[in-house]
This record gives sequence, C-alpha cells and structure tokens, in this order.
Amino acid sequence: MSRIVYVNGAFEPEEHARISIFDRGFLFADAVYEVTAVLDGRLVDFDGHLARLDRSLGKIEIPRPMPDEGLRELHETLIAENRLDEGIVYLEISRGPAERDFAYPPTSFPTVVAFTQSRPIVDHPQAKLGVSVITIPDIRWKRRDIKSTSMLAQVMGKQEAKRQGAYEAWMVEDGAVTEGTSSSAFIVDEDGVLRTQPLGPHILPGVTRRVILRLAREDGVSMAERPFSVEEAYSAREAFMTAASAFVLPIVTINGRRIGTGEPGPIARAFRAHYIAEARATLSA
Ligand SMILES: Cc1ncc(COP(=O)(O)O)c(C=O)c1O
Repeated sequence: MSRIVYVNGAFEPEEHARISIFDRGFLFADAVYEVTAVLDGRLVDFDGHLARLDRSLGKIEIPRPMPDEGLRELHETLIAENRLDEGIVYLEISRGPAERDFAYPPTSFPTVVAFTQSRPIVDHPQAKLGVSVITIPDIRWKRRDIKSTSMLAQVMGKQEAKRQGAYEAWMVEDGAVTEGTSSSAFIVDEDGVLRTQPLGPHILPGVTRRVILRLAREDGVSMAERPFSVEEAYSAREAFMTAASAFVLPIVTINGRRIGTGEPGPIARAFRAHYIAEARATLSA
C-alpha cells in the first residue's frame, strides 16, 4: 500500500513525491535528519529530537525551514494519514537545490522530506534473544556529532555485519568503541559500572542514550561516561545498544564471543522495560 509522504509543504502518495536532481542533499549529502519513534500512534521524546535537529542545522548553517510546532504538526499529520500505530518517522532537511558547487549559495531554500515506516519496536524481534555485534575500524569523518545523512561508512559497516550474520557493527577508534553504525554502545563492566563514550565530536549525541543515562542516575546504577575497549567489552557482564528505532537491545555476542552468560543481561532488560514504560506514560502527541 502506498504511503502518504511529506515533501516541501505537500502531503502526497509516495509515488508522486519529487525533489530536484540538483538538491544538495542528493549531490553532497548536505543534509541532516532525525528518526523519531512512534508508539501507540504518538511521538516518543520529540523534544529531544527537535533539540538535536536544531543543533545539527546550526552547525552547518542550514536555515530552519519552520518552527518546532510546524515540524510537530507535520509529523502528527503523517502519523494520522498513514494510520501509524508503531514505527518511526524519518525527517530530512537538506540545504535544497542549487547549481552544483561545493561552497553553498548565500541564500538556500531547504528541502524538507518526511515519511513513516511501520515496524514493531516494543515487540522488536531481537529484543528477547539479544543481538550479535561485530567490531570494525571507525573510518568516519570527525564531526559525528552532526546528524548528517553522509553515512557511507555506516552503510559499509552494517553490510559487513549482515555478511557476518550479525545485527550491528561497533566502530573502534584509538582502541576504544565509539558507537554502533546506527546506535549508541554501552557495557556493564566487570565491576558492574555502566560505561559509554562521553559526548564529543567523535559520536552522535543519542537521544535514547541521554534517557538511559538519566534512568541510570535515577535508579542508582553506578555509571561512568568513560570509553571502553573491545577487550573490556569481551569481559563485560553485559552489553547493549540503544537507538530511537529499537530503544534498548541486549547484546549477547561480540565477534562471536559470548558476553556475560550469553543471554540478555538483567540491567539491559530492566532499562528496556523502564524506557518503554516511561515513553508510554509521557507520549508527547
Ligand atoms: C551513529 C549513531 N549513533 C547513535 C545513534 C542512536 O541515536 P538515537 O538514540 O538518537 O536514535 C544513531 C541513530 O541513528 C546513530 O546513527
């Protein structure tokens, strides 16, 4: 069945949606994006996504095409038009069309595109059994805090994971795991400390990551925003990944090695349950 998608002010069937071949998003990946989860037909933590979108746009000087309320309305209309109960809304804002030139024109007319994807998140197929990850070198550029659509390194990484029968690839730089190709990376180390990378230009500030760290603080879980190596991950009690499109997924093997008992760990399972309960209680639409 055809979806209703959003392109530059119009809601239309996906087969009618068009953007220019000169769009800088297409030519240069001169664009940023957000993916917001939808539960029970409502947006999850949309304010967090709006704040990060604003930051990404600001960093690359793309003018904001509409205020927050317009973006919220756009998302809600897409959810309603597509009768989306559970899944995601993808939003992309590019610098818009211009004669091809690396430097951008003084005035730009951003392209705004959005669409829905229906998929189970609460009953995510991998949530109960946990997932496998592999590790790969982090070959990305150095401004990973900007949620840019330039993601060839992640495309290659995810494809390699798939080739090896894994769900995700953790990227490694200077001996430490930075993050997954489309997720934030966590372990509960040998001493029971929840560990993840501190924020900086080297990782994306995950919206789900932020909630998990707050829940950890509230629940009195010992934690440190401190990098960890692959060796430390091998000997961790637990490992898990977070992303808006999956919430929390326990990791049971890394490069084929069993983590902890080889089953989803209690802390990952508790965070997943807590995250879902809180999201349901505070749905924003
Ligand atoms: C590189 C990277 N890190 C982390 C995340 C998780 O971020 P969020 O929790 O905001 O979905 C994503 C999500 O797409 C990502 O692409």
